Amino acid sequence: MPRKVGGIAAFALVCLVAGGVTPALAQSGDPLGVGRKMLAEDNPGELWVERGKTLFYQKRGPKNASLERCDFGMGPGQLAGAYAALPRYFQDTDAVQDLESRLVTCMVALQGYKRGDLAKTAMGNLDRMSDVEALVAFIASRSNGMKMNVPLSHQKEYDAYKAGEYIFYRRNGPTDFGCITCHGENGKRIRLQDLPNMTDRKQLQDVVTSWPAYLGTQSNLRTMQWRLKICYWQMRLPDLAYLSDISVAITSYLNYQGNGAVIGVPGVKR
Ligand code: HEC
Repeated sequence: MPRKVGGIAAFALVCLVAGGVTPALAQSGDPLGVGRKMLAEDNPGELWVERGKTLFYQKRGPKNASLERCDFGMGPGQLAGAYAALPRYFQDTDAVQDLESRLVTCMVALQGYKRGDLAKTAMGNLDRMSDVEALVAFIASRSNGMKMNVPLSHQKEYDAYKAGEYIFYRRNGPTDFGCITCHGENGKRIRLQDLPNMTDRKQLQDVVTSWPAYLGTQSNLRTMQWRLKICYWQMRLPDLAYLSDISVAITSYLNYQGNGAVIGVPGVKR
């Protein structure tokens, strides 16, 4: 008898394997999921992580220094779990900083780069790869498998969170859009782009634990700073300034709600 049961189990397994993933996804009403899954299995974002790792330990910039003394909140050079607790308040800058603004602070202070130059080159294009995007990918990946754990204990952390919450719901500009217009209901889409409902905690957690992400349509890895800039453009609002207080406040609001969810970056998006 045990052999027979085993046989049935084996048969069922063969059916599952032979059935494969594609038909199941197609039937689930998520045809785009097929492409996403194929990309995730062979995540090109790993190339940015590797390049970021090399850049992190290399002596670079006018001061010919590596980033090993950069403190992302866990102490100089301590990267494990740092991203999971960002944005957070930093005493030396007296500001709440997300990973990218903290990185730029260190590239200026330790390596001697000019902030303005970094801002201009932080988002790469097909002709020029960005060092900042690669570094963000590497540093964030050191929190993979850990839970998001953004603090709200300092008054400025709390203020940033509340400001982000306000911006998320506030409708403004020529279109009278708020984030909520596109990200406040299930099942919304712009052309082929699924719009996550970020008032749903689970959906929001999936979002914030998967940035930075490799974007197939960009053939590039992008950071949350980039994503927010594009959404501001979609709302026809004035450009969201790179590393601005507003961008950090929104990220504080989003990431804090990600608390408890496990980080897995770089994500893969269309
Ligand atoms: C006009 C519609 C629109 C508005 C308004 C809008 N977004 Fe978006 N948002 C998009 C689109 C389109 C995408 C990309 C979806 C995709 O590629 O599948 C997106 C994606 C995102 C993502 C990444 C989602 C993911 O799947 O990882 C985040 C985070 C985000 N938006 C935040 C915001 C915030 C914060 C605001 C308000 C400041 C905002 N968006 C306003 C259209 C909008």
